[in-house]
Amino acid sequence: MPNEGSYEVALKRSNEIHADLPVHPEKYTMLTGDRPTGRLHLGHYFGTLVDRVRLQDMGVKTNVIIADYQVITDRDTTEHIADNVCNMVIDYLACGLDPVKTMIFTHSAVPALNQLMLPFLSLVSEAELQRNPTVKAEQEASGHALTGLLLTYPVHQACDILFCKGNIVPVGRDQLPHIEQTRLIARRFNERYGRVFPEVAGLLTSTPLLPGLDGRKMSKSYGNSIAISMSAEQTAKLIKKSKTDSERMITFDPENRPGVSALLTTAGICTGRDPREIADEIGMDGAGALKRYVTEAVNGYFEPIRARRAELEQDMGYIRDVLADGNRRANEIADATLAEVREAMGMVY
Ligand code: TRP
Repeated sequence: MPNEGSYEVALKRSNEIHADLPVHPEKYTMLTGDRPTGRLHLGHYFGTLVDRVRLQDMGVKTNVIIADYQVITDRDTTEHIADNVCNMVIDYLACGLDPVKTMIFTHSAVPALNQLMLPFLSLVSEAELQRNPTVKAEQEASGHALTGLLLTYPVHQACDILFCKGNIVPVGRDQLPHIEQTRLIARRFNERYGRVFPEVAGLLTSTPLLPGLDGRKMSKSYGNSIAISMSAEQTAKLIKKSKTDSERMITFDPENRPGVSALLTTAGICTGRDPREIADEIGMDGAGALKRYVTEAVNGYFEPIRARRAELEQDMGYIRDVLADGNRRANEIADATLAEVREAMGMVY
């Protein structure tokens, strides 16, 4: 028997939900989100934004948190945060999230969500927090000392998910430990105080991770990602200066030709074509031709999204209204859940 927290079990659970979603969308509440540390890029778009829109349009209750408190887990400043939050809302709407159907909100505006942190922290051990592989990896990547907030952020994510009784969370495989932590917290709370919280499952994405333009992991610090908000010219420039190799013949070989292959993957995902087929077509025309093809593919795909983005940017009052409305709705839900929690814990005086 594989154990409860294993990848096999999570995958099986995720597949069952994928199959059930179109049949019973009303049974599901999705919660996911992003840290407003910069602009959303093609990795976010193809990795998760497309799925969020699909779930929204299926009739699932969809909630998206802009995780502003998570920004200060591993850095000392909130500089640019307000700008990043606004641009994130603009990206969401341009990509098809409908603020009437999808609740868009921020940590810092929802006090009752944050208050769940205290009872939840009492349900986890220090050893459990120290063991989380994602926390360790993020701390090492940041080069920053491990803050108390980074150590406990999986618990904060449990608050994000459980305050709205989320039961599905779209995730990549590396995020599964967080989902497992949330399941444990919900289960322990329910066992100790009576059932308040649902069973949560990670909904594993079927799209493989989109590499950065150089074949490495997509990251702002590597300068290898195309932001949704870039102009066609900025996109062309970034693709033009991406590193390929000295072999003229274009082939798809991610292991040995990371740069060329990442460009082919990017073109493939934007055109819905197999990267190998694109490689065959370009063949001896070389990297210059490949880059022109990728540029057209990306700019073609994102042209309508960027046009909507430009319109939304002209109406910042509307963007602020969307956020204010999301925050208001999130507060209503969080207040109700916190009231239930206090009731369950016998803390209503
Ligand atoms: N930590 C996630 C990220 O860095 C964002 C996030 C915050 C999140 N709370 C969440 C994701 C809850 C899923 C569920 O992108």
